[in-house]
Amino acid sequence: MALANPIPLTARPAWVALGEHHAEIGGTELRDLFARDPGRGERLTLEAEGIYLDYSKNRITDETIGLLVQLAVESGLRERIAAMFAGERINATEDRAVLHVALRAPKGERIAVDGIDVVPAVHEVLGRMGEFADRVRRGRWLGHTGKAIRTIVNVGIGGSDLGPVMAYEALRHYSDRELSFRFVSNVDGTDFVEATRDLDPAETLFIISSKTFTTLETMTNAASARDWTLTALGGDPSAIAKHFVAVSTNAEAVEAFGIDVMNMFGFWDWVGGRYSMDSAIGLSTMIAIGPDAFRELLAGFHAMDEHFRTAPVEANLPVLLGLLTVWYADFFGAQTQAVLPYDQYLKRFPAYLQQLTMESNGKHVTLGGAAVDYATGPVYWGEPGTNGQHSFYQLIHQGTELIPCDFIGFTHSLNPLGEHHDILTANVFAQTEALAFGKTAEQVAAEGTPEWLVPHRVFEGNRPSNTLLLDRLTPRALGTLVALYEHSVFVQGTVWDVNPFDQWGVELGKVLARQVAGELSSAEEPELAHDSSTNALIRRYRSRQESSCSSE
Ligand code: F6P
Repeated sequence: MALANPIPLTARPAWVALGEHHAEIGGTELRDLFARDPGRGERLTLEAEGIYLDYSKNRITDETIGLLVQLAVESGLRERIAAMFAGERINATEDRAVLHVALRAPKGERIAVDGIDVVPAVHEVLGRMGEFADRVRRGRWLGHTGKAIRTIVNVGIGGSDLGPVMAYEALRHYSDRELSFRFVSNVDGTDFVEATRDLDPAETLFIISSKTFTTLETMTNAASARDWTLTALGGDPSAIAKHFVAVSTNAEAVEAFGIDVMNMFGFWDWVGGRYSMDSAIGLSTMIAIGPDAFRELLAGFHAMDEHFRTAPVEANLPVLLGLLTVWYADFFGAQTQAVLPYDQYLKRFPAYLQQLTMESNGKHVTLGGAAVDYATGPVYWGEPGTNGQHSFYQLIHQGTELIPCDFIGFTHSLNPLGEHHDILTANVFAQTEALAFGKTAEQVAAEGTPEWLVPHRVFEGNRPSNTLLLDRLTPRALGTLVALYEHSVFVQGTVWDVNPFDQWGVELGKVLARQVAGELSSAEEPELAHDSSTNALIRRYRSRQESSCSSE
């Protein structure tokens, strides 16, 4: 495999050196690191494209950073970045280029796949999306009965849902409040029923978002949406053209579903699902915030792309963030990474990041197909602050797991209200301070705590965190933040020598689900050939269904 790194990760000199270095400094206390270097909190910071990163509260020294940077170099990071931006087929297991960066390239820039510049096509779709979004926003896109559209329902799952819903929530402040937005993803009928129960079909527009247009959950929900619309609007199939648009790469399947391809917004196989919120998959976002604000979002992405592409490895935000994740996952055995946004609008950001990070780097073989003998992608999780503090922070502070945390805060609130924002931000700074420096037994005892209670009240500290501080949550800021994590995932994948752009791990369950669905619903008793547990569960489901049918 041409793209695989010829030197296994654990044989790279920097990896070996990091192991020795960890043995030396792994136990060093953050208290001591700060005491020895009073300027550390200002020195170990980096600012780019409106994001200020304080990484001083990490269990690192200057030597750690030097070795991690050396590891990135030995892992061929520079070459991999260049290959991605050049449109090379770095998604080797699917034989595809990886060009989400082209989705936010300004007009006039040239990014070629197989010699063809893709940027004009990107802008052609953006232009069509803009016209469509404007028509809906101005009440000029009329439904079948002549009423203007008031509710937009995005139907999609995975990358065709998590990006749109996260961006809608994140940018709600900028959204047109005359329109309402709903998101249906789960194949559980409850999701569709609850999302639509108070809607007027005559004023509802469905965006069926699916890269492949074959995903079982989305196709099932789309079919229910079509039935719901036609039933309410008198069964005239011509109503579909007014109430359904599609976002997909699969024009044939879109047409077969009954959506006019004139109402389809395309994208390309070089956009991975989890990297697609800034493609036409972002149509609901664009309708919510308008084409101009959507372009600001793209400008934020692009600014971070350029920083990632051009900044030196040692002064590169996504590189640093990605390398720190490798440091904790592989040398401290950290199995999870918390992301804690202190902004209510970012409440779906951790869920979005889960797909971005875990579907990308949850891999157990290298690009060359060899089993890895080191940890790859950690579990990402989180909740917005301050709610998490009253829930799971106890374990981060006093549990037995080491959980590196990313705290994300803003210097300005979009909803200034009394002292709320100062209190919110005080909690960001207080939490990172408490995690890093804790409270010793001596300090606890000095407060007059009874001896038996002292161990319970001790905070060991030495728990690492990054603080990301931005000015305010604008569309542009969101673009920079998402691109930062996208590229951090790329850095991690490059060091681990895995392919962050395929997701074969989701296939087996999909195939089995189709088979089991047939076995659950067949009129004849099916011949089951699963294991005894699965067979028994299928039989029980069928017999409970039959007995409830016969008693009805
Ligand atoms: O779950 C696997 C996956 O392929 C994701 O990568 C993707 O985002 C999601 O399914 C939805 O796929 P599609 O957009 O093709 O419906």
